[in-house]
Amino acid sequence: MKLLVCGGAGFIGSNFARQRVERGDQVVVLDKLTYAGRRENLEGVDCELVVAGIEDAEAVRGALAGVDAVVNFAAETHVDRSIAQPDAFVQTHAVGTWVLLEAVREASVRYVQVSTDEVYGSIEEGTFTESSPLAPSSPYSATKAGADLLVSSYFHTYGTEALICRGSNNYGPFQYPEKLIPLMVLNALHGDALPVYGDGMQVRNWIYVEDFAAGIGHALEHGAPGEVYNVGGPDECPNMEVVGRILALTGRDESLIEHVTDRPGHDRRYSLSSEKVRALGWEPRVRFEEGLARTVDWYRENTAWWEPIRSGDYRAYYERHYGRALGG
Ligand code: NAD
Ligand code: DAU
Repeated sequence: MKLLVCGGAGFIGSNFARQRVERGDQVVVLDKLTYAGRRENLEGVDCELVVAGIEDAEAVRGALAGVDAVVNFAAETHVDRSIAQPDAFVQTHAVGTWVLLEAVREASVRYVQVSTDEVYGSIEEGTFTESSPLAPSSPYSATKAGADLLVSSYFHTYGTEALICRGSNNYGPFQYPEKLIPLMVLNALHGDALPVYGDGMQVRNWIYVEDFAAGIGHALEHGAPGEVYNVGGPDECPNMEVVGRILALTGRDESLIEHVTDRPGHDRRYSLSSEKVRALGWEPRVRFEEGLARTVDWYRENTAWWEPIRSGDYRAYYERHYGRALGG
């Protein structure tokens, strides 16, 4: 199969591209290379890289030539950045998704939109299914929900062969260290403070990135057009437990933990039922304990990947967001 993977130079997209190339697919990546998209993520992956935004209709049309399907990972993905500066979220998720859908409609190819459990909002008890109402809380999740609705409208109105996969919290190699797990791992390895928002008892459903990538591939091959598939991980865990496990894996103690001001509108708990995609034959393989140990080892061993990040613009982001210098 020939695939166009939008946002394929980011964390999950690059893991997906690697997996698909290993399975024998031909892959073209279209990526704007924002701060989160890096050529390094695709090192050793035999694919073509087109540097362009999904909102660039001409570039999209060119990259789409001859492909059998499009998988769209391209997004702004950090909730805290969406709170500070929502512009790019609206542009990429609304306009970008629309441009892609128009091109896909013209080319009549299959389309998978990679979405998130955050579109359902927070749940105190129980678990979200695909028919749960959308109740997003942040500019990130609201614009992702808007993109999902647009995708569904193309199926209903034009018969576009479009599917949606909603994932839970991913972790693993190549994740930009603004997200909880890589940020805490790198800070712990450096002996820096671990900034926990509020009481740290927010719960997330963790999925190892290779499992999520495989789930998307499975829905691409076996899913039905017009359907939504939740792809969640096998383990739920409060943030304080995640941080405790990272301290243990890096040989540090709790004195590094620092409770900081909570995220505005912070969702308390996400929980996702994945029965529908499991019924298609997909299962997550990696439990949190094993995946986290692998992830810590990967960051420990791949200093050349994160050193340029920790010494570049990221330092300014960190200082602005956490009100303290990295390493200070
Ligand atoms: P990421 O931030 O690591 O990567 C995003 C990629 O998209 C980057 O390579 C970036 O350069 C590219 N991009 C951004 N705007 C673009 C544009 N306008 N045109 C083309 N490329 C653009 O994100 P990620 O964590 O890999 O997430 C990928 C997708 O999965 C997103 O759609 C996200 O909403 C979804 N998702 C993420 C998680 C998670 O836990 N990380 C969970 C569920 C769903
Ligand atoms: O649920 C899927 C979503 O998971 C994806 O759609 C998003 O793209 C992805 O960023 C992620 O969103 P979260 O907000 O859950 O992830 P984040 O890593 O930012 O935060 C995870 C939890 O950790 C959350 O409760 C906030 C908390 N946190 C995060 C950071 C960065 C802290 O306590 N301290 C921090 O410094």
